[in-house]
Amino acid sequence: MASNAELIVDGKSYSFPTLEGSEHEKAVDISNLRDQSGYVTLDRGYKNTGATQSAITFLDGEEGILRYRGYSIEELAEKASFLEVAYLLIYGELPTQIQYDAFATGIRRHTLVNEDMRKIFDGFPVNAHPMCVLGSLVNAMSAFYPDSYEGNQNTDLHITRLMAKLPTIATWSYKRSQGHPINYPKNELDYIANFLNMMFALPVEDYKVDPVVAQALNVLLILHADHEQNCSTSTVRLVGSSQANIYSSIAAGVNALWGPLHGGANQEVIEMLEEIKEGGGDVAKYIDMAKNAKTTGFRLFGFGHRVYKNFDPRARIIKKAADDVLSKLGVNDPVLEIAKGLEEAALNDPYFVQRKLYPNVDFYSGIIYRALGIPTNMFTVMFAIGRLPGWIAQWKEMREQKEPIGRPRQIYTGSTLRDFKAMGER
Ligand code: CMC
Repeated sequence: MASNAELIVDGKSYSFPTLEGSEHEKAVDISNLRDQSGYVTLDRGYKNTGATQSAITFLDGEEGILRYRGYSIEELAEKASFLEVAYLLIYGELPTQIQYDAFATGIRRHTLVNEDMRKIFDGFPVNAHPMCVLGSLVNAMSAFYPDSYEGNQNTDLHITRLMAKLPTIATWSYKRSQGHPINYPKNELDYIANFLNMMFALPVEDYKVDPVVAQALNVLLILHADHEQNCSTSTVRLVGSSQANIYSSIAAGVNALWGPLHGGANQEVIEMLEEIKEGGGDVAKYIDMAKNAKTTGFRLFGFGHRVYKNFDPRARIIKKAADDVLSKLGVNDPVLEIAKGLEEAALNDPYFVQRKLYPNVDFYSGIIYRALGIPTNMFTVMFAIGRLPGWIAQWKEMREQKEPIGRPRQIYTGSTLRDFKAMGER
């Protein structure tokens, strides 16, 4: 596409090149806007701003399409393993058997976490939120692997370490909340079975991984694995653009994910559904509260999305999986019926229809996590385990593209120059 965009400001005309992505997304390249015109753009929340060109994930919010490296999310969720998808995201292609074996073996060999990290962990209050612990310990990994910021950086080794150790660290918070000893990884188990074993095995009895649970988790992790330039991923790229090491960059992503408008919504959803159940199941009351968000400050968690304006393809897969998993596990969770009732009421309400608000990935995921035995305050940690390969892939791409340091502009609205007043004159 060889067209130009014209901008007329203060009576002068400026010309900017346009570009088009492989899926025909169009952009005006304003890299020289300020140099040419003295103007900057203002786009709160980056609703219209493309921060980068990326070959990792394609998302069409109108059509409800999500693809990793060209493969549809529906097909990957049905046919792939989480580690295959991780490899695909990070290295660009589905692995051959030899590549897969090398990737999986590398990860198995790095699951053990330095015992000194345990000392840091032991310093946290027992009831510390697992996301706070996770962000801190991922950041602490750079202290244990200073080669991540000194000398020749072996990025593949750091990627392996992150993939291997995140599930191990994630299980510590849960074990301590139960007053149980932590479990060490068992390298004969695959990625997901190893995580489940560290979460649920007890020294006093055998634990066998239920294949229904393992497959449900496999699907959930795949669905969360990447989502192009969202809040946490943009954070990872922005932090990494200063040449900060991979551990610190990913830790920043964990912290961004924790917020209730982003990954933290999955915990909020279940708490909201529980509250509705405890209050007698009055769905209409919550719909009304959400419609009056300006006065109540209440949002229907798990609803709405910045990009999806018809449906979230991940939510469709998860809703179906929720029915399937709960029935296979013989779990009867009344909260599932409340969620369905809430969805139906919202989808028939003009407020939600006009604003194109639909259930997002977080609306039904918590119901599955709960059926798998994962406690509510660990839901966002599960999201982080799933999102890790996406963050890594985006960090790696940003470095390989040699992107400049991220540094937005602002429109200053504070005081103009004024004279300093001594303390007694203020
Ligand atoms: N409940 C009630 N009203 C809502 C909701 C909601 N969940 N979401 C948006 N709205 C309204 C909002 O009040 C606004 O109305 P009005 O035009 O009258 O001012 C309109 O819809 C547009 O909202 P917005 O905040 O401008 O939209 P956004 O694109 O900036 O926000 C969002 C997207 C996901 C932050 C928002 O929909 C939300 O807060 N949802 C609840 C939190 C949630 O479920 N987050 C998880 C997102 S999916 C997982 C992930 O990728 O992180």
